[in-house]
Amino acid sequence: MKIQCFLLVIWEISSIFCDCGCSTNRHDQGQCKIESNEINPSKKYSLQQNSESGQNFDHSNMVLIEAGTFEMGTNKPVFAADLEGPARNVTLDESFYLDMYEVSNQDFYNFVLATGYKSEAETFGDSFVFEMALPESERNQYKDVRAVQASWWIKLKGASWKHPEGALSTIEDRMNHPVIHVSWNDAVEFCKHIGKRLPTEAEWERACRGGLKQKLYPWGNKLNPKGLHWANIWQGEFPKINTGEDGFIFTAPVSEFLPNKFGLFNMAGNVWEWVQDDWHSDPLNSKVKKGGSFLCHESYCWRYRCAARSFNTKDSSASNLGFRCAATA
Ligand SMILES: *[C@@H]1O[C@H](CO)[C@@H](O)[C@H](O)[C@H]1NC(C)=O
Repeated sequence: MKIQCFLLVIWEISSIFCDCGCSTNRHDQGQCKIESNEINPSKKYSLQQNSESGQNFDHSNMVLIEAGTFEMGTNKPVFAADLEGPARNVTLDESFYLDMYEVSNQDFYNFVLATGYKSEAETFGDSFVFEMALPESERNQYKDVRAVQASWWIKLKGASWKHPEGALSTIEDRMNHPVIHVSWNDAVEFCKHIGKRLPTEAEWERACRGGLKQKLYPWGNKLNPKGLHWANIWQGEFPKINTGEDGFIFTAPVSEFLPNKFGLFNMAGNVWEWVQDDWHSDPLNSKVKKGGSFLCHESYCWRYRCAARSFNTKDSSASNLGFRCAATA
């Protein structure tokens, strides 16, 4: 059964916004369609064979995560339509390495320097930018290029990984921040170039949980244990007031905040991370993304949880969407 995003408001008010980013699919301008379908665990969560891995990759700044069984998903889904549930035992047959950090602007710069790679946002000539990143005086001129269900997303000409807020902007002051405005296809190419691959969703979630069982966050169930901020998310009132209490309004350096028990940084918050898996429902060609972003707030997009998931089409890019790479051990 297909349900238009706006109908979900009847039973889940916070779903009207779909999330802090799923509205940014290139082909439907924010018409978030959600389809409830059967979960087929063996198909969805199996570790795909990957010929690109092997031992020819640099595993410094990677964490080895052992093969084994873990509880994936949750029996208390916040967004049932995202298929966060049910909790189920998933077995990973092979150990794998996962990057400690999200891929940074510096990493992507090195990749482009070595290969001349042109990202999809550069090819399309635009990417989705959160309006608050643009000067207030300019925001009115973008009426025609706002996402339908989430008008704070502006499809901005000239926005790309090296010009995150349009042609005149630069990444020079944030080379250690996660690369953004990269599509799933871009992420795959990057990882392939260095002998790695994207993690599967099951690998990503096992890594996010850091050995903890059925906890909300990579560090536990409390949002701010010890009175500290543990992730880069939104404080204040979405989408107008971000108080930046965690130190950041937009992206944070990839090594910011405490790592989880596996030594992984920013699994929750900062930027969404692409994983290998298909979303398996509309729109076609969509891929799963995990972890939430700096735009997520509990009031409407409580998706900085390990079980949470969302999606974009493979060629979509946005200012809160990045990735990290994995490799089979
Ligand atoms: C996973 O397996 C363990 C050990 O057999 C069991 O205790 C647990 O209930 C299982 N979890 C789920 C969600 O089936």
